[in-house]
Amino acid sequence: MVMASGPILVPKLQIVGGNRLEGVTSVSGGKNTAVAIIPAALLSDEPCVIENLPDIEDVHVLMRILTFLGAQVELEDGTMRIDPRGVEGHRVPARLAQRMRASYYLVGALLGRLGRAEVPFPGGCMLGPRPIDQHVKGLRALSADVECHGDNVHAEADGLRGGDVFFDLVTVGGTINVMLAAARATGNTTIYNAAKEPHIVDLANFLNSMGARIKGAGTDIIRIRGVQRLRGCSYTVIPDQIETGTLMIAAVASHGDVTIRGCIPTHMDALTAKLLELGAHVDESDDYIRVRSNGAHRAINLKTQVYPGFPTDLQQPASTLLCTARGTSMVTENIFEQRFRHLEEIRRMGGNARVVDRVAIIEGVTGLFGSSVYITDLRAGAALVVAGLMAEGVTEIANVHYIDRGYERLEQKLRDLGAAIERVEVEDYSPMIEMVWK
Ligand code: EPZ
Repeated sequence: MVMASGPILVPKLQIVGGNRLEGVTSVSGGKNTAVAIIPAALLSDEPCVIENLPDIEDVHVLMRILTFLGAQVELEDGTMRIDPRGVEGHRVPARLAQRMRASYYLVGALLGRLGRAEVPFPGGCMLGPRPIDQHVKGLRALSADVECHGDNVHAEADGLRGGDVFFDLVTVGGTINVMLAAARATGNTTIYNAAKEPHIVDLANFLNSMGARIKGAGTDIIRIRGVQRLRGCSYTVIPDQIETGTLMIAAVASHGDVTIRGCIPTHMDALTAKLLELGAHVDESDDYIRVRSNGAHRAINLKTQVYPGFPTDLQQPASTLLCTARGTSMVTENIFEQRFRHLEEIRRMGGNARVVDRVAIIEGVTGLFGSSVYITDLRAGAALVVAGLMAEGVTEIANVHYIDRGYERLEQKLRDLGAAIERVEVEDYSPMIEMVWK
């Protein structure tokens, strides 16, 4: 990433706040599911078809990585066909790997397919230190030699063998990487203290559709009986839990009335409970959620936890919403220690929040006002969009490439619900503008 020093023309989101969101919208396929399932297709001996993929930058980057490694990949209207039979490359180029966090799933997937992998340390959102020691420990438990040299993870196995993996903490990425490597290992693997997020279950369902034998996904013990080969399959990824939550929060923040179709309401229980506590109304059926608010919001406390607790990925938009709730809210971030940088930006919009260690203390103000703000990570982007919807006047949001990494057509969906939001190109002189490779 390059920091620019002079004036440059940059894309920004411009929001005129105050419009009430109303109507029906739909949710796209899950980003965090997609970025696990696409590498998983490398384990198959036949072509796979993956449907309902979101049209986001992370999916496009993965497609380029798989193509570079020798797979044939086609993507049209959210459906990706991956033929991994030509994959011979085990080295992932840094210029691609460092554009996303999930590139580390290629370690597990390439180990499972070729018995070796060389993957540069992943990029993605800067949320404080993001070690991968548990991934390394898990893969070593499956008899892989894993070393970190310079900026690369080197992994090699002369035949992966199943083993017991005890994670010291609950890690989504670590759980996924071990599942990928174990699917075709010889013998049985048991993952203790596994993550239970919906996309862990979705990945297990995808691998099982290819002939893997995985049980217990969604609980904290996952058992995998390795198989010799995996066949092709057609699979539809689940709807995005975090996009659903972002839209729910945006609806409440705008004092609106929005129905979100195509979601899985049970995945949203932790957020729904908090929105009810705050004073919003939530109705749900099998595949939709309707969220309404009359604007009278009470301060609440929330703590991020692993699933089924309150997701860290929704903490940033949720803590933004609390900036105008009556009273003092306390938000504790238990997963990523530097996930409050959006609040510094919201202070420029009149928000009153201070951070002490992992706790944000938010004093509700009567309103926010528009300002120029900068996105520092993907969900901070969602948070600043929510702030812009709430604010009086014009909010100009820079570094929109973060949003493009993980949200499909967010501004279009919000515009269709009545938001005054546009993407514009403007000159910016600030050192906080980040440019990405294109
Ligand atoms: C995944 O990140 C998601 N990323 C994140 O979503 C999400 O916030 C996070 O899970 C938690 O739900 C993807 O799916 C690509 P972890 P991941 O391993 O796998 C520590 C978004 O906005 N840890 O569950 O990196 C780690 O530092 C993104 O969509 C170790 O100490 O999360 C963190 O404190 C951002 N050692 C905690 O565990 C390890 O080896 C949980 O991390 C691994 C993790």
